[in-house]
Amino acid sequence: MRFLLGFLLSSLPTLSWLDAPEAWQIGFQDPATPVMQGIIDLHHDIFFFLVVVVVFVFWMLTRTLYHFHAKRNPVPEKIIHGTVIEIVWTILPSLILVCIAIPSFALLYSMDEIVDPAVTVKAIGHQWYWSYEYSDYNQTDQPAVAFDSYMVPEDDLSPGQLRLLEVDNRVVVPVNTHLRFIITAADVLHSWAIPSLGIKCDAVPGRLNQVPAFIKREGVFYGQCSELCGTNHAFMPIVVEAVPLSDYIAWVANKIEEA
Ligand code: CUA
Repeated sequence: MRFLLGFLLSSLPTLSWLDAPEAWQIGFQDPATPVMQGIIDLHHDIFFFLVVVVVFVFWMLTRTLYHFHAKRNPVPEKIIHGTVIEIVWTILPSLILVCIAIPSFALLYSMDEIVDPAVTVKAIGHQWYWSYEYSDYNQTDQPAVAFDSYMVPEDDLSPGQLRLLEVDNRVVVPVNTHLRFIITAADVLHSWAIPSLGIKCDAVPGRLNQVPAFIKREGVFYGQCSELCGTNHAFMPIVVEAVPLSDYIAWVANKIEEA
C-alpha cells in the first residue's frame, strides 16, 4: 500500500528538477549533462527491444505449452532439424544486438571525450570524506584552492537539508563550461558518483581517472561514494553546485583570498 502510494506520488509531474534521490524512486534522476541525457535515452532504446523480446518469448512459450501438451498432442513429431528456422533464430538476435551495440558504443566513446576543459577539479577519496583541489589557480607549490568536504551529521542539519547527503563544503563549478574531473584516492578504493551528471568514476589509490562534464543548468547535484570503502562508506556524500560563470569566478577569488 505504502509502496503503491509512493509510486503514484512519484509519477506525478514535479515542479523542480530531481537532483537528489527521492523516497520510493524507481526511475532516473533528472539529467543535467548531455551524457546523462544520452544514458537515459539509451536505456529507453534498449527497453524497447527488451519489451519486444519478452512479449515474443512468452507468446512462444505459452503457445508451445498449449499446443504440444501430452493430452492435445499424444504422438510427438520426429523433426530434429530445420535449416531455415536455425538461420532465422541466429541472424535475428544478432541483428538486434547490432541495433543495441551501435548507439551504445557511440555513447561510450562520447562519454570518454575530454573537450579542452576550462576548469579542472581534482577529487580525492579518503576514509571517509572527499577532498578537492582546483589546481588551475596554483601560483606556488601550495594548492591555491583546496578543501575537505565532510558530510553534515544528522544533528547539525538545518531545515530543508538532506539527511546523509549534505556536505559542509560543496564543489562549485560553472554551468555551460567544459569541465574535467580528475579522480583519485588516498587510502582505499572509493567511487565519485553523481547521478544527474551521469558520472560514476572509481577513485583508485595511485591512479588518476578523468571524466568530462558539461553541466547545462544551474543546480545542486547530490551523489554518494559508490564503492564499498569501509564502515563510513555511506557517510561520504558528494555535492556539486553549478552556478553562473560570474558567480564561479567570485567564488574562486574568495577561496584564493582565504588561502
Ligand atoms: Cu568511499 Cu565508499
